[in-house]
Amino acid sequence: MAEPLYDAKNNTDLDLDIRPISGALGAEVRGLDLKDLDDSGFETVHSLLMQYSVLAVHGQAHLTDEDLRNFGLLWGNLDVHGYSPTVEGFDDMLNIRSGPKGRASAEGWHSDVSWKDIPPKISMLLARKVPSIGGDTVYASQYKAYEDLSEPMKELLEKLDAEHDGRNFDIDLIKKPARHPVVLKHPETGRKALYVNAGFTRRITGLSPYESKGILNMLSEHCTRVRYQARVHYEVGTLSIWDNRCVQHCAPPDYGYEERELHRVAVLCDERPSR
Ligand code: SIN
Repeated sequence: MAEPLYDAKNNTDLDLDIRPISGALGAEVRGLDLKDLDDSGFETVHSLLMQYSVLAVHGQAHLTDEDLRNFGLLWGNLDVHGYSPTVEGFDDMLNIRSGPKGRASAEGWHSDVSWKDIPPKISMLLARKVPSIGGDTVYASQYKAYEDLSEPMKELLEKLDAEHDGRNFDIDLIKKPARHPVVLKHPETGRKALYVNAGFTRRITGLSPYESKGILNMLSEHCTRVRYQARVHYEVGTLSIWDNRCVQHCAPPDYGYEERELHRVAVLCDERPSR
């Protein structure tokens, strides 16, 4: 287990209830109000996120979409996705909505928008409607996945780059893949993490197609092993927030055609991911 970077209970006068979700990553947090957070409140949330990589902050149903956007802006510039449905009036807030008429599908493992040169560092989902059962988001720690690799494999992967494209959204995005290191160094924690995902990573550059496919298949299985996972279960008003630089996620559509609606804001990396 990595050393905790910060003990929120000892460093704030907020009365927080912080419960780790799994041994790999994630914590549930109660007792926070993310509306109009002051500097010290923001520092608490930031430090908790650096420590746990995923937070489920419950009790935020009172946040308006404008409040959610303002909370996102505390972290940096917001991504305008450009392809997925948005919340009316906000081109930088996705509306991830399922119900009797159809389902938003993010069943495959991915790191948000890794097909852009500057992808999101942080994503957050505010649960507006939740199904009576299921509808969780599942996360996997890419720090742990990296750390468990053998030294020779780490050495090989650390030299490699991979191409990511967004063909799932628009076939033309095949023509402008983004190139990122297979292993990135997290600019804030300094830890190394795997940065390839089955959703968007198409090939490792410099390898033959056969070699690239073999390594990507191995990594997509390894990166998402159950031992690296944690699930966030939503209540109305749960805000899940995660760090795409060290986490992959997926959303099992295991709730039939019940209503599920989450509003998503994603905050862009300050610079391209680097090793
Ligand atoms: C996403 O992939 O951004 C959506 C995750 C979810 O619906 O839980």
